[in-house]
Amino acid sequence: MSYNQLKAMIAPSILSADFSNLESEIRTVEAGGAEWLHVDVMDGHFVPNITIGPVVVESLKKKTKLPLDCHLMVSEPERWVDTFAKAGASVITVHVEAAKDLPALLKRIRMAGCKAGVSISPETEVKAIEAVLKSVDLVLVMSVRPGFGGQKFMPSSIDKIKRLKTLRQGQKQNFLIEVDGGVDSSNVGLLSDAGADVFVAGSAIFKAKNRKKAIEDLRNAIEINR
Ligand code: DX5
Ligand code: ZN
Repeated sequence: MSYNQLKAMIAPSILSADFSNLESEIRTVEAGGAEWLHVDVMDGHFVPNITIGPVVVESLKKKTKLPLDCHLMVSEPERWVDTFAKAGASVITVHVEAAKDLPALLKRIRMAGCKAGVSISPETEVKAIEAVLKSVDLVLVMSVRPGFGGQKFMPSSIDKIKRLKTLRQGQKQNFLIEVDGGVDSSNVGLLSDAGADVFVAGSAIFKAKNRKKAIEDLRNAIEINR
């Protein structure tokens, strides 16, 4: 996984899927050509919602070969990274706003055999993570307030993505830039142009009847700008 690969990566967020039919929901996005599966973990404390725990990740791991991109929106992430790594996460992303010792936490994620990601919420500037960019595989820029699917895209994320792209070039780093929240075919082109490599989409994919077409629509809108 490298940012200079030609193909954009689409990561459907299962938060918008039908949880009573999770396996068949996943088959639709696998068949539709998704690269990753985005798993939103919320604890009702860091964010005002409760979603998916490690037991679900463990079950998903048995059912799909798609890498599980686990987005930890939890307080005290240091308590959870090993558990999610064991459950089968491929990528573990933690929030800078929640981490006590971010460099140690990122190291621990890598030690557990996962790709290490760091995320910034809309109120957080890129500056807050500049010092750890050399130690991450991925930076996740939130384009909505973490907590719920189906929110409106916040354009302030675009400048952050541009800034990260500039820093990546300047520091000769290799991290992926991922964007999450309100992503749809009307803004993916702009986001790709700004420098995003991984596009998380919940409602834009799972609320569509034809998931394959929804993924293709996103990909086509991205390709125009690559
Ligand atoms: C929000 C989550 C997102 C969410 C995206 O806190 O991190 O991954 O599922 O959903 P949409 O694409 O509907 O904004
Ligand atoms: Zn997410």
